[in-house]
Amino acid sequence: MNPTESTAKSTSPLEDTNQQRLPMGSCPFAISDPVQQAQVEEILKPLILTQDVIDRVRDVFEDEMKLGLAKNPPKLSSLQMENTFLPELPNGTESGEYLALDLGGTNFRVILMELKEGTIQREEVKYYKVPEEVRLGPGEQLFDFLADCIKDFLEKKHYTGEKLTLGFCFSFPMHQKALNVGILVHWTKSFNCPGVVGKDAVKMLNDAIHRRCGHAIDVVAVLNDTTGTIVKGAYVDHETAIGLILGTGSNACYLERVSRIEKWEGQHDAEEVVIDIEFGAFGDNGVLDFMKTDFDREINRNSLLVGSFTYEKYFAGKYLGEIARLILVKLVDEELLFKGKCTEKLRTVGSFTSQYVSHIEKDSMELSTEETEKILGEFGLSYTQDDLKIIKYVCAVISERAANLVSICLAHLLCRMDKPHCTIAVDGSLFEEHPRLRTLMEAKISAWAPGKQFKFLMVEDGSGKGAALIAAIATRLRAHSKAIISGEC
Ligand code: GLC
Repeated sequence: MNPTESTAKSTSPLEDTNQQRLPMGSCPFAISDPVQQAQVEEILKPLILTQDVIDRVRDVFEDEMKLGLAKNPPKLSSLQMENTFLPELPNGTESGEYLALDLGGTNFRVILMELKEGTIQREEVKYYKVPEEVRLGPGEQLFDFLADCIKDFLEKKHYTGEKLTLGFCFSFPMHQKALNVGILVHWTKSFNCPGVVGKDAVKMLNDAIHRRCGHAIDVVAVLNDTTGTIVKGAYVDHETAIGLILGTGSNACYLERVSRIEKWEGQHDAEEVVIDIEFGAFGDNGVLDFMKTDFDREINRNSLLVGSFTYEKYFAGKYLGEIARLILVKLVDEELLFKGKCTEKLRTVGSFTSQYVSHIEKDSMELSTEETEKILGEFGLSYTQDDLKIIKYVCAVISERAANLVSICLAHLLCRMDKPHCTIAVDGSLFEEHPRLRTLMEAKISAWAPGKQFKFLMVEDGSGKGAALIAAIATRLRAHSKAIISGEC
């Protein structure tokens, strides 16, 4: 499927009829009892970011980015600002057959892609479920599993070609020492395989391929999903300079001028390079504590990685529904919702998904209550008209906060890069499914990066296709001896 391009940058979101019904920058809320309304508003108030808080977050983001790029930072930044060692995006000359792997969730994919003069000619994909015992078992077993999948894929395709070049999308925080060296910093999501942290994922993959595969395969690049997304975006639109993931997790990468990467001491001759910000961890060092609400503290306490991925926990798809649930439960306990009566299901951690937030927001935009009533039915809850309005208000407030937080980072990147035009390639279920995040973000970024021309480009499968494209770029760079091979960064 072709990627779908968003509305043009010049379109004012305020011209959108839906947006007129639900004005930008505010979440209209009115129920029959003004006292109850004031009490609900009081509980949600800490989640509404004032301009002062927005300015502080932006300033801290800027400081942390600088610290993350510094050679001898006086203190540790919560932004990893990882050099991906990718100095070029697709330029339309890539040709050949490339293998790509995509590992980041419970579904692992093997992809074989054929390119001709920069255009995808053919693509074959196979999905493999990674069993829990492999996601949590010894590291060597995980990489053997990946190698077995490659073998199975090539056998099923009756692949008899020559040596294959492979791009490995490994969506975990890595310390990259070269385009094909990625040291795992720590596991995230649903993985926790002992014996991999501190090791090079590419070497572990290569060793497993030698042990199990029998095919000649050269792993030329390792990348995370944001890098795959920027590359896939650039394949479609050469003005792409930011890759954003807004799905279960969230993170972004962008093109940085090499002259500004103080910490990069190694060998390089590029002008720009893709930097993986790892902004999901923004605030892990406490710099954002000023905006933390009781709900955020509870999300953190109940999470798999307590104390990590602070920023992601404020808005990413894995958490947005749970934030809504915690607020709803609080409102019930204060007897401000459902006449104080809860159900077991609503009290269950994780029962209220981010998709529900998207569906309820859709109702708000369409002046309907259909989806919201359906969801409340699934939860076995009895409700009044005012209850419906309160639930919509909760979802609007947390969606607005999500849009604010992502937009602060994107607006800052646009100002920092200062390019005449910039396309932001985006992948991720939350961005795709939420009915007004994109419009909200367009308005906020326009306001906070005045005069900067940008547009969103939805790319599908940035991680898979992007990995194959990066394998092609790496091959091109090697042929021109331009590969950036080393460097402490
Ligand atoms: C997590 C990972 C990061 C990835 C993001 C989105 O934050 O640390 O590498 O880009 O999830 O999948």
